[in-house]
Amino acid sequence: MNFISAKGSVDDVSILHVFNLLGYIIVLFHLIFTDPSTYDFPVILWWWKNVCPHDDTPTLHYINCGGGSMCLASSERYHLDDPRTKAIIFYGSSVYPDDLPLPRKVDHLWNLIHEESPMNNYMLSHAAFVELFNFTATFRRESDYPLTSQNIYSLNYLTDRKPVSTEDKNRKIREQGYAPVLYIQSHSNVASDRDTYVQQLMKYVAVDSYGKCLHNKDLPESMRTAEDSFESEEFLDFIAHYKFHIAFENAICRDYMTEKLMRALHVGSIPIYLGSPVVQDWMPNNNSVIVAQDFESPEDLANYIHFLNENDKKYEEFLKHKLRGGITNSFLVNHLRSREWQSHPSGSPESGDVNMFLGFECYVCKQIHVISRDRLLNSSFSRTANISHTGCPEPKKSTKSASNTKGDFYWTKVYRQQEDKAWSARRMVDSGGSNSSQFYRYHRTRSKTQQN
Ligand SMILES: *[C@@H]1O[C@H](CO)[C@@H](O)[C@H](O)[C@H]1NC(C)=O
Ligand SMILES: *[C@@H]1O[C@H](CO)[C@@H](O)[C@H](O)[C@H]1NC(C)=O
Ligand SMILES: *[C@@H]1O[C@H](CO)[C@@H](O)[C@H](O)[C@H]1NC(C)=O
Ligand SMILES: *[C@@H]1O[C@H](CO)[C@@H](O)[C@H](O)[C@H]1NC(C)=O
Ligand SMILES: *[C@@H]1O[C@H](CO)[C@@H](O)[C@H](O)[C@H]1NC(C)=O
Repeated sequence: MNFISAKGSVDDVSILHVFNLLGYIIVLFHLIFTDPSTYDFPVILWWWKNVCPHDDTPTLHYINCGGGSMCLASSERYHLDDPRTKAIIFYGSSVYPDDLPLPRKVDHLWNLIHEESPMNNYMLSHAAFVELFNFTATFRRESDYPLTSQNIYSLNYLTDRKPVSTEDKNRKIREQGYAPVLYIQSHSNVASDRDTYVQQLMKYVAVDSYGKCLHNKDLPESMRTAEDSFESEEFLDFIAHYKFHIAFENAICRDYMTEKLMRALHVGSIPIYLGSPVVQDWMPNNNSVIVAQDFESPEDLANYIHFLNENDKKYEEFLKHKLRGGITNSFLVNHLRSREWQSHPSGSPESGDVNMFLGFECYVCKQIHVISRDRLLNSSFSRTANISHTGCPEPKKSTKSASNTKGDFYWTKVYRQQEDKAWSARRMVDSGGSNSSQFYRYHRTRSKTQQN
């Protein structure tokens, strides 16, 4: 910058510049060298410190969310009593009724981030519990800060990797004994009951199963620790030779979609999907995925797989997203263009990224400022989350024949027990309970709760 004018004299405008600059420098020094804990900004407290998105350090961090919204964030629980604290962020898989910040203060917003499986916490599928929160960021598009597309890293992720030719895929089947269908899953006994379905499917179509579930084949030696390297090129090359991938979620819920579905699209294999009933909304085009729920039975699904397996033209119609212009879903395109956060297959952020945790933190910070501004204007702002932000249906067995077998499904029982907990936790909070670790005093089964 030129502070001295060409004539060698200092003009008025330049003097202003100098003062402005001094002002900035003073503010900058202040920000760099002053202990941020002395700032009078609202504090956001991360209740489960493992997800606090600030370099693993729990102490107060200054965050500037733009538009005059500045906050402090921390995961040190003693800030619960800090009068500056205005919001608490809970992590869905780790919010427990015996570990809530009670008694609830009227000026504390409770906020929830839940990008993991609904089966991790079915309390969140019950209105009584969900309505304790103000703002949410979940896999459901109805939440305030939706994370639905977290595993669709970009449009290029879907389009750019060249698929193995159908000819090569067929040759693997003919000459090397590959099955047409791949399954890799090591988490059995899950809420979607997927293994029961896959086991029945296997009666009608060959499936190579490399994971611990229904294991019938070993991965090549170099990929035995595949759990850690699902994104390695070697692994992707290997699975790309399969014509179909079973991509069954561990729990069924609207908009809960994970990386196994997107990975199949990435490598150019047809996903056979069990999960979100509205999965088509997020797919590259109308013909990208085979949805198991569209078939009467595993046998019907197997017949369709055989049909595609023997008909290369029909098979390749499912891989149109790999061709120019193959992404016709404008909802998906617009969504990805306007999404402010980024996620990556490796899971680790790249520099300059807004990841979804930082993004939600700023969303909450902005809401705190909106609320306090509204209070000044004497209008009362109130927002409560509802079941559409996090709710998922009661789990059931995955096939008709399986649901006829005697005895309650384990996950149905879990779901109902969590409902009891949800109602009990709500009672505890609403009645002004002050010691969450005494949750057991409030814990009743739902029917008794209703009588009260
Ligand atoms: C899917 O097909 C329907 C009707 O055939 C059409 O209206 C819709 O635009 C298609 N959607 C996409 C994403 O191609
Ligand atoms: C704010 O609202 C309250 C109640 O509605 C009213 O009594 C008060 O006068 C209002 N204050 C201002 C500054 O408008
Ligand atoms: C936050 O949610 C609680 C519980 O539903 C509610 O009582 C409170 O009014 C909400 N706060 C705001 C500012 O909306
Ligand atoms: C639930 O929340 C959504 C989104 O915040 C809102 O559009 C909807 O009206 C709410 N539903 C009810 C029943 O309050
Ligand atoms: C809360 O309850 C637990 C378990 O009963 C007890 O150990 C603890 O001291 C109580 N805390 C307070 C602050 O009263």
